[in-house]
Amino acid sequence: MRPGDMLYEGKAKQLFLTEDSAVLRVKYKDSATAFNNQKRATLEGKGEMNNRISTFFFELLNKKGIANHFIKAISPLEQLVKRVEIIPIEVVVRNIAAGTMAKRLGIAEGTKLKHTIVEFYYKDDALGDPLITEEHISVLELATPEQVAQLREQALRVNEVLSAFLLELNIILVDFKLEFGVDGDGNVLLADEISPDTCRFWEKETGERLDKDRFRRDMGQVVEAYHEIWNRLGGK
Ligand code: C5P
Repeated sequence: MRPGDMLYEGKAKQLFLTEDSAVLRVKYKDSATAFNNQKRATLEGKGEMNNRISTFFFELLNKKGIANHFIKAISPLEQLVKRVEIIPIEVVVRNIAAGTMAKRLGIAEGTKLKHTIVEFYYKDDALGDPLITEEHISVLELATPEQVAQLREQALRVNEVLSAFLLELNIILVDFKLEFGVDGDGNVLLADEISPDTCRFWEKETGERLDKDRFRRDMGQVVEAYHEIWNRLGGK
């Protein structure tokens, strides 16, 4: 493969090689998928919003000393990121019951959890990304116990920074999903994206959903909601 070649195409992003073997170019797509690809649509403008919002959050986390793969944004749809080997675990942090947790455990959506929780899901489309425990991670050799401890610790730090920041903007961070990778030196690095596709954002006063649930639940005004997040972050 040569610089410029596409290394990987995911549901919402494409990854390209660059001249530097340690750097990849990410291009955000306008496609939206939900329920393990069963629901699909093209939402014009979503890619740009996710690139901008994700860039904002990665820069904020960098400033707060939380290392991540982000290098810089290079166009409305593209970023340069450090190349990592993605750990096949989706790390979900929850402050308030919603989505699959509310459904699985029979908790009313919107119930504040007694304390923040971290969940792990096996990143495997064929299996439908099942919920897994640390013992499953060990048996499947998805990560070492030390790495799992780092995933948990970094995810909770991200939650602290983003929750506090967003609350100032009257946005409640209900839950979110993170992915991590391992760089060439063996460091665990926050990767992927942080956007309304991967977080639940609720407007504090109205409870309005400003995230991908608008797409999942056919609520309409999806990209408009992403714009609202971007506006509150100071975007133009
Ligand atoms: O669907 P569920 O309630 O488990 O999602 C928890 C959080 O993780 C939500 O913010 C959702 O957007 C995010 N998520 C994701 N990608 C997945 C599964 C969940 O970004 N494959």
